[in-house]
Amino acid sequence: MKNTFYITTPIYYVNDLPHIGHAYTSVACDVLARFMRLAGRDVRLLTGTDEHGQKVEKSSQAKGIAPKQFVDEVSRHFRDLAKLMNISNNDFIRTTEPRHIKGTQLLWQKMQESGHIYLGSYAGWYAVRDEAFYAESELVNGKAPSGAEVEWVEEPSYFFRLSAFQDKLLKFYEEHPDFIMPQSRRNEVISFVKGGLKDLSISRTTFNWGIPVPGDEKHIMYVWLDALANYITAPGYPDGEDYKKFWPGMHMVGKDILRFHAVYWPAFLMSADLPPPRRVFAHGWWTIEGEKMSKSLGNVVAPSELVETYGLDQTRYFLMREVPFGNDGNFARERMASVINSELANNVGNLIQRTLSMIHKNCGGVVPDAQGVAKDERDMAFLQKAQVTDSVTHQDVEKRYYDCKFNEILADIMHIASEANLYIDTKAPWKQKKIDEKLMQATLYHLAEAIRCIAIMLQPFIPDSAAKILVMLGYAEEKAAKGISFSELAPEYALKSGTVIAPPQPLFPRIEI
Ligand code: MSP
Repeated sequence: MKNTFYITTPIYYVNDLPHIGHAYTSVACDVLARFMRLAGRDVRLLTGTDEHGQKVEKSSQAKGIAPKQFVDEVSRHFRDLAKLMNISNNDFIRTTEPRHIKGTQLLWQKMQESGHIYLGSYAGWYAVRDEAFYAESELVNGKAPSGAEVEWVEEPSYFFRLSAFQDKLLKFYEEHPDFIMPQSRRNEVISFVKGGLKDLSISRTTFNWGIPVPGDEKHIMYVWLDALANYITAPGYPDGEDYKKFWPGMHMVGKDILRFHAVYWPAFLMSADLPPPRRVFAHGWWTIEGEKMSKSLGNVVAPSELVETYGLDQTRYFLMREVPFGNDGNFARERMASVINSELANNVGNLIQRTLSMIHKNCGGVVPDAQGVAKDERDMAFLQKAQVTDSVTHQDVEKRYYDCKFNEILADIMHIASEANLYIDTKAPWKQKKIDEKLMQATLYHLAEAIRCIAIMLQPFIPDSAAKILVMLGYAEEKAAKGISFSELAPEYALKSGTVIAPPQPLFPRIEI
């Protein structure tokens, strides 16, 4: 891996209000971006809105306003989402921006110059909801496989020679076994491509809301070509410094849009002689209390409501903790409350509360001194896990993040916190105090140091709370807010005795079930 890291969320359709699915992808990208920054990489995180196409045009018509006015009004919902979820994006791209339109038209020209675009006519099915073309054979009971309504379309159209890329794509997947993740999704894509690729219609003439085809302005580019191009136009394709520095990047997408990212997009790029993305990770879908989330069922979960009810970091934590990334998951309120209570409130919260209040009561509110007390086996086992310092473990952590093993990483951090709680019970510092105060001091020191490590490790997931914990332990507010590098897990950065620490503040209130 080079020292830069570029990660993207899908760009969201503006006709919908943000829901838990959007928050999920964005938080996952943010966790990865924050980790990579703290591991010392130069990171770019991109999100934005997909504002063209028939779906958006229809929504604006339904509101009786011009599409441009409509998108200007609604794209801010997704800017607000990024703020609400504390997403550390470096940029926000809107596909109606001139920088995007210019870059996308250039991409089209490159694809055309290499002979991969030709004029023909399209006759077939189109699903506006999916913004996708379907062959007769793909329909299920007269609908798209996704359940979307389809309409018959017959019009002149430019085509992309996707058929010419079947072997190239298969070779590319073969040479890059981790390009599509998880593996089960990779296998699906490979069998789809092996089944044969047809040329793809990439322009429409029966509506207007999109990017005109250069040199033939009656044609509007297919919205997926337009949308996918955002990943390179935002950093400044073709000459922008950031484009040159950061591309190729990694895309995080839901399983429903994997084909666009893992088949069409690399083929478009190859045809323009540009490098394909570095990785496409497809995550699963959330059902809500066992049901598919849908407007008609009225069970759409708004991120703002979750943040209000459970708290921001609690929501981020739950989304990353509940489901192995890549699998489908079920969202249930009772379960969310119980995960927050048992892991954040009872495990981490209690550990901090117990340790810091004992330090305040018994050590004058400063980090105690462990000098002169030999470490026993228990101390060692415990600290070695907390201070994950050696480079081998560190490399391993990086791969786990890159492979999006978020729930396992959190399980490991929680395990350290549980061990620390157990350590308090077995060492019983309140008893040690009566035997030899030095023993108690050493125990409390090791616990405070474990909390420091746990907070550093939790930063990508719950950045605000982690910073608060670090400030309680004596880190300067500004430094903690910027984030503490993972290299500071090393023992040479361990807490210094005598450092003044703040009285514990409640961080994760218990949620009533
Ligand atoms: N505009 C396209 C993406 C273009 S990217 C070049 C799009 N937008 S979307 O707003 O409809 O969807 C964005 C993401 O939300 C997708 O990755 C989709 O998988 C995800 N989700 C939508 N519903 C979801 C759930 N119920 N659960 C998890 N993610 C879900 O597609």
